[in-house]
Amino acid sequence: MKKKPKVLALFTAGAPTRLDDDLSVEFETEGWKTEAGVVAALGELGYATEYLAIFDDLELLRQKLQSFQPDLIFNLADEFKQNRAFDQNIVSFLEMHGLAFTGCGSTGLMLCKHKGISKKILGYHRIRVPEFVTIPRGKRIKRPKRLKFPILIKPLKEEASYGISQASFVENDDEFKERVLFIHEKHENDVIAEEYIEGRELYVSILGNHRLQAFPIRELIFKEVPPDEPKIATYRAKWDAEYQKRWGLTNQFAEGLDPAVVRDIERTCKRIYHLLTIDGYARIDLRVKPNNEVYFIEANPNPFLAADEDFSQSALKAGLGYTQLIERIVRLGLKAVRE
Ligand SMILES: Nc1ncnc2c1ncn2[C@@H]1O[C@H](COP(=O)(O)OP(=O)(O)O)[C@@H](O)[C@H]1O
Ligand SMILES: [Mg+2]
Repeated sequence: MKKKPKVLALFTAGAPTRLDDDLSVEFETEGWKTEAGVVAALGELGYATEYLAIFDDLELLRQKLQSFQPDLIFNLADEFKQNRAFDQNIVSFLEMHGLAFTGCGSTGLMLCKHKGISKKILGYHRIRVPEFVTIPRGKRIKRPKRLKFPILIKPLKEEASYGISQASFVENDDEFKERVLFIHEKHENDVIAEEYIEGRELYVSILGNHRLQAFPIRELIFKEVPPDEPKIATYRAKWDAEYQKRWGLTNQFAEGLDPAVVRDIERTCKRIYHLLTIDGYARIDLRVKPNNEVYFIEANPNPFLAADEDFSQSALKAGLGYTQLIERIVRLGLKAVRE
């Protein structure tokens, strides 16, 4: 029998780390549940598994690769020195060394992180995207006339709703200017300003490199938000349990979608996945208008893999238990062709 591959689970930490750090205490905490879940699943699958968390020192990774000689990196490193735009650079390092790793390659990560470039590519291929403009720091802040209110102001290259609050929703030029300036100065990020799409918020989880499988669709429900208020997955909406409770924010399986609409959504999301050169696994975020027009909001390659997150929940609904899901991701990582 062929020997089981050796797997190095790679994480990032918020402070400098060491080669032999024992993370078993961290694994018990909410903030490390993805890492803990993945390491446990890799163990169950019988892979010889070791892990390493890095902060800002690639030399540590080089040493670990040298001593452990893994066949595959299970990549959960999504930042470097707490900068979330550097996920692609870590993957570039792995690619340069010819290493096999799970999830998305550097090109896909880069395209998806840039909320402007991804929308230009998809718009070119006639996938519906919100009208938008990008405003880099240092440039005069002016709304182009074609961009109609209400508008949502977002950091151009961020994730996890950093910089997104109810104040991101603007209805006149003064609010527009103020919020753009706030993101430029306080969040030290360029801006993308998008027309606000009113509609259901859907999350589509997809697994695969070439042949893709789309899992049952999840939806974020804003149960207690009054009908005329904007419905936005803000930072607090994502991370503050109190806030979620107050506004009745719940993630659940999308109900009552016409089967033809579901087919359209799945087809569209698979096209998006290929057009943005994603490998491994990703969650595509959409808004669907009352007339069933599907709008792309964002693609998330390497989405959170904790068992209670949307991706794992969708896979489970399709019959893929957590451990099996991790095994599929490992296999896809071993097979992926990297440039
Ligand atoms: N154009 C838009 N129209 C309506 N809602 C939007 C739009 N863009 C973003 N949102 C809302 O803001 C949330 C976060 O935006 P997103 O681009 O996904 O940022 P992040 O990468 O931080 O998750 C979305 O989940 C959605 O609720
Ligand atoms: Mg998002």
